[in-house]
Amino acid sequence: MASSCLFFISLFLIISAQEDSEIIEYDSIGTLSQYLNFDQFSPSPLNDASCPSYACKTSKMTFDKNQCVYYDAADNAYYAKKCSTKDTHCNITLNANSVCIPDPEPDIILNYPGESCKSSDNCFNSFPCVNKVCQGLSQGESCSNTIFCDVGLYCNTPTAGQNGTCQAQIDIGKSGCSVDFDCVNGAGCNVLTPGYSTSNECIAYHSIPPHQAVGTCDVHSMSELCQSEYCESLKGVNYCTNLLNSTQKIPVKCNANTPCLSAADDFFEADPFQINDNCVCGFNKDRTAYCPIFPGDSPRVKLRIQQDKWLSSTKINSCHTIRRFAPECQKLYWNSDDFYALEYYRAYSMLFPFVQDAQDCILQTFFIDYYNTKKSYNDDGAVSIVISAILLGFII
Ligand SMILES: *[C@@H]1O[C@H](CO)[C@@H](O)[C@H](O)[C@H]1NC(C)=O
Ligand SMILES: *[C@@H]1O[C@H](CO)[C@@H](O)[C@H](O)[C@H]1NC(C)=O
Ligand SMILES: *[C@@H]1O[C@H](CO)[C@@H](O)[C@H](O)[C@H]1NC(C)=O
Repeated sequence: MASSCLFFISLFLIISAQEDSEIIEYDSIGTLSQYLNFDQFSPSPLNDASCPSYACKTSKMTFDKNQCVYYDAADNAYYAKKCSTKDTHCNITLNANSVCIPDPEPDIILNYPGESCKSSDNCFNSFPCVNKVCQGLSQGESCSNTIFCDVGLYCNTPTAGQNGTCQAQIDIGKSGCSVDFDCVNGAGCNVLTPGYSTSNECIAYHSIPPHQAVGTCDVHSMSELCQSEYCESLKGVNYCTNLLNSTQKIPVKCNANTPCLSAADDFFEADPFQINDNCVCGFNKDRTAYCPIFPGDSPRVKLRIQQDKWLSSTKINSCHTIRRFAPECQKLYWNSDDFYALEYYRAYSMLFPFVQDAQDCILQTFFIDYYNTKKSYNDDGAVSIVISAILLGFII
């Protein structure tokens, strides 16, 4: 039987800060919604025979002053021209023309302990800003959530609902964790028993080989403790799967009737494990649909190598435990070449089927964040990256 991947890529952690009941998401690769407006370009299975065509404006077409997309309804075709006015982007509208609009004001983001500040107004919980860095609670201080503790610490709360104390994050190979954030930044908690337990050990991410046992496997059959990122149960025990790749040379073309299946892992006996993902329309002229890629395919392999470089670098120790995958913190402490490479592999892995054969004018209108990330990477970090503010405009 196959497992569905839902088109989102791993190392995705969610923590709920009880104080303001806000859900904060941290991830190392990001989710597709960072790059796409789900309402407009839902990566759902193809349900009709044909994809739209996406091409550049031709010289015969006349666009209004602020127009960036002309939609030809009869032909289901989009023609695009990049927005050339500074600080504007194309407000993409489904099945219609689109115009350039001003970029939104960037969100005010409160920084976490370890991140930069001018005053405590810039820090989460109005924490003090010392030497331009937000400070959290010190070791031994009373805490209700790991968010409040300083860099290098987690909030150990042995009794649910009661305050615990900030303590040093648990080393690789040591036990007593309940979630990943209890462990040092390069490791996750291999949960065998829910809650703080001596049977739960901190294990380096991506370190468990295929067909070795892993504590928990999430609803998407994923575990970042596995080298292969995927896991499956067999006779009541969870095991990491083989590193699974596409069965044909990528990019793999597909249509509504051809599912996108990874190679199969026969270890799981009667029920071989296989990743099943959706065929999606590419943003190309020829209306070609493509399959997403799998952890064993080359862009994902490069991404994992770059992630592992971050996870094993000393720089990661400058980030707060819950910010271990946050690009904002990576950018602050890592060298720019490595940071842009990580951002690029992350975006490319996620957008792979969408951006195959896409013309630059299409990337500049429909995927401006990806376009800028790619440019920063190709320019070897010389051009500064535009972080998500622009596509956020689509989502709002
Ligand atoms: C973007 O376009 C949509 C659909 O035409 C429209 O409803 C929305 O108001 C536009 N957004 C802005 C910020 O102008
Ligand atoms: C519990 O921890 C929070 C910070 O997380 C702190 O503000 C509060 O004073 C603590 N409560 C007690 C009773 O120590
Ligand atoms: C998938 O991986 C296997 C094992 O490394 C390799 O032999 C095979 O050629 C790969 N398949 C494709 C389509 O790249």
